[in-house]
Amino acid sequence: MSSIPVPGNTLYKASSLPVETRIDSLLALMTPEEKAGQLNQVFSGHDPKMLPELYPELRAGGIGSFIWAMGNPGMRKKLPDGSVALRNQIQQAAVEESRLGVPVLFGMDIIHGASTVFPSALGLACAFEPTLFERSQAVAAREARATGLEWVFAPMCDLARDPRWGRVVETCGEDPYLSSLCNAAQVRGFQGDSVAAKDKVAACLKHYLGYSAVTGGRDKNGTDLDEWSLQNLHLPAFRASVDAGAMTVMSAFNEIDGVPVVANHHVLTEILRGQLGFKGFVVSDWGAVSQMLIWGYAKDNADATRLALAAGNDMDMLSKAFVKHLPGLLKAGTLSQEVVDEAVRRVLRVKFMVGLFEQPYADESACVLSPPRPADVALARECAAKSVVLLKNEGEILPISRDIRKIALIGPFADAPKEMLGAWDGHGEWAVTLASGLREKFASASITVVKGCDVSVTPRIKTLQDGSVVPDDSEPPVTGDLESSAAVEAAEAADLVVMALGEPRGWTGEGGSRISLSLAGNQQALFDAVAATGKPIVSIIFSGRPLALPAVWKESAAVLYAWQPGCQAGPGLADLLAGDVAPTGRLSMSVPYEVGQCPIYYNHYRTGLPCDGALGFRDSGVSHAKYWFGHGLTYTEFAYGPVRVIPAAAGKPATAVATVSNVGRREGEELVQLYIGQLYCHEGVRPLQELRGFQRVTLKPGETREVRFQLTDEALGHFDRRGGFKVDQAEFQVWIAPHARVGTPAVHSTDPVPKTEDPVEADPEAVCFGCDRGSWSVVSVSFDSPYTNSGMAGVKKLLDDNPKTYWHTYHQDKKVSAPPHEVVFDMGRELMVAALTMTPRRSSDFGCAGVPDQCEFHLSLDGKAWTFAARGDFQGLATNPCRQVVTLATPVKARFLRFVATRVANDESCVVVAGIGVVEAPRLDSEVNISSYMFSI
Ligand code: NOJ
Repeated sequence: MSSIPVPGNTLYKASSLPVETRIDSLLALMTPEEKAGQLNQVFSGHDPKMLPELYPELRAGGIGSFIWAMGNPGMRKKLPDGSVALRNQIQQAAVEESRLGVPVLFGMDIIHGASTVFPSALGLACAFEPTLFERSQAVAAREARATGLEWVFAPMCDLARDPRWGRVVETCGEDPYLSSLCNAAQVRGFQGDSVAAKDKVAACLKHYLGYSAVTGGRDKNGTDLDEWSLQNLHLPAFRASVDAGAMTVMSAFNEIDGVPVVANHHVLTEILRGQLGFKGFVVSDWGAVSQMLIWGYAKDNADATRLALAAGNDMDMLSKAFVKHLPGLLKAGTLSQEVVDEAVRRVLRVKFMVGLFEQPYADESACVLSPPRPADVALARECAAKSVVLLKNEGEILPISRDIRKIALIGPFADAPKEMLGAWDGHGEWAVTLASGLREKFASASITVVKGCDVSVTPRIKTLQDGSVVPDDSEPPVTGDLESSAAVEAAEAADLVVMALGEPRGWTGEGGSRISLSLAGNQQALFDAVAATGKPIVSIIFSGRPLALPAVWKESAAVLYAWQPGCQAGPGLADLLAGDVAPTGRLSMSVPYEVGQCPIYYNHYRTGLPCDGALGFRDSGVSHAKYWFGHGLTYTEFAYGPVRVIPAAAGKPATAVATVSNVGRREGEELVQLYIGQLYCHEGVRPLQELRGFQRVTLKPGETREVRFQLTDEALGHFDRRGGFKVDQAEFQVWIAPHARVGTPAVHSTDPVPKTEDPVEADPEAVCFGCDRGSWSVVSVSFDSPYTNSGMAGVKKLLDDNPKTYWHTYHQDKKVSAPPHEVVFDMGRELMVAALTMTPRRSSDFGCAGVPDQCEFHLSLDGKAWTFAARGDFQGLATNPCRQVVTLATPVKARFLRFVATRVANDESCVVVAGIGVVEAPRLDSEVNISSYMFSI
């Protein structure tokens, strides 16, 4: 502690006294300049040369905190030797050479690991196992503290809704409930029971608030947020993490309602402290105080200082505005003494709590940048395997047989260790690639590894915090070459091709917005060349965001979405590929068909013209995500029984119940998900569906288990605009399902007054298109029509030639015979059909009134022997609700579907059907497997 004599009471040095007493004592001694110093965070990089410049400021008590003193993750500089010594030198100047000896707080971005790098948050959230976050961040905390850090800038509590935004990789996905659990778990992992412990660090919730809502997915753009969505979508994860005890919060770059968050009193004080009860301090994001000048919100830095402090932003990261202007503002009386004292008090409180006054120095001997410990490696491997999502597994091509002889491993991510580490790699430099993982696992097979092309052909550049764009010379040079001939040769010689594809890690994270969601560089051409060999392909996608890769989804026999898996990427993936571990990951973020759909997320609001809640496009039939939130396969299959609700009784809440059966051939674990959808709410419209619970069941083949979820207030409630939590008297749909947007809900009511049922009026303008024929093809059509949009005669040809279009005639065709009319579809593979759908189409602009009011569905395994499956009776229904669903009593296995329009309303000869589809059991991938056609005869 400083040996400089200080007049007055120095009780703050007495560790036995309560923290608040110590703060009072210290605060009473501080000059305005010293107070400003505590609120000033600076950056030195890891540059000892900068220190002589900083010493005078440190000695004057003008620096409260350092960012990245021990290496600069943004520039990929690792913890250099002697950096802890350097940190201690800085600390020495503050503690021993300044008047009051207040220690400096050291912070850094330790996001998904320090030395042991775990999967990026978006991937790890797919494990749906929050304790993995707690355990991995506990490792990160230990490793970070050992390097002299007491403070990390994580977890990120932003809600991911737009994959174009590169920072979705740092989030826990698109769902507020899952995000809340995962983020609160991270806070517990970082801080533990006592943040003063030698293996704990203070957490920092970021980016408060609404940063992920930047419009168009463009990083640091403005937002379009309202109180209703703040409360129910963007705040829950922050609320849960504040409840978990988070000690600091980072204010975000964006504005809300026109006011930059760093100066937004409503957001920083009324909500954060008033509604959420946050007690720690708020640090701005990088230079955000001064950025108010660029926003055109503040007049100058003095103005920005006053606005930020008065709003409740306590520490200034790097703007150096507070340290310069605070004393003058106090003197002029334009900033209140109470506001400043409160901000300083909050910062000091954290410093006392992390034990800095007692232990200002880091142990230099303990800090050796060493490879991860074996137990941490094992955890990283478990996390990697659990974060991977199996999107597709046709013909059970996975797991790979141990007897396989030749594997071709192709793609630029096959053996790229750094790429495995993800957007923020802490100090980590130990990564095991897929190539190494496969070689070890399939030791007796011959494995040919071909890179095929570079990861990217885009020049490697980096945007620095000051906005300047510089070459990123820490990455290998770009060649952009496509060498597909070696890849094709390897594929042709192999029994199985594993393709390792994706986007560079540097394309995600800060400044990582993308205009397309395709494979980077020449990878699509590489994939196409390999796919043309006809060899079975298992594609593994390494990416920090959901990519839209139609050819990969279609041509690959199996697809594993591996995100950025961390230092144990190879072993974790090899465990899955070999079947030593079954995939259990589920999407934390929906995967779109096309970039133009973005933002796309399962939990959007109900709308006035619902059409299944998915709003379609004129130039594409696609209206749904390719894979919805929660989707993920494993090595067996599960079927779900209908949901029922047992009413509340004897003080116990109502309970939703469904059976889940293992209908596959292996034992397996299923993640059973509870979704609710509030059907009416006067406070504001509610999402179509919201995840409110999940459970795991492990079942043997043939085994069935009943799964129950209590419909507690927590499961049914929402926040009002003032942050109050309430459960409405209303009706709720309740799903127990394998992922979002599938299954048939039960209805649960908390409303004592039954609603009045009016007859539903058909809305002729309500249309619903969904047109993804996927693997479907038309086998035969019993009718023909000369009228089609594209001028082609022949309905079969029309359907076959236009896989992603729908067609319409302009008037009814009197030449066509009267029903019955049938179309036979080959669905491309055997599947368990749980329900059949028909989407009628009647629209004034077509002048057709011929909605089939009766139809039949027949199913067949071989296209020869047919079984009647269901009759659809749609009499009196037009297009709203637009899709009719007929659920089968028991699921039927089939590959061929025959649709027969048996009778047509109004005796017209024109039949207009917008969509025919099946809902598949057990996975119920309705949107994936519904093929929708429109045809007119
Ligand atoms: C800016 C980023 O937005 C934030 O996430 C990060 O913690 C800070 N820079 C500090 O590195």
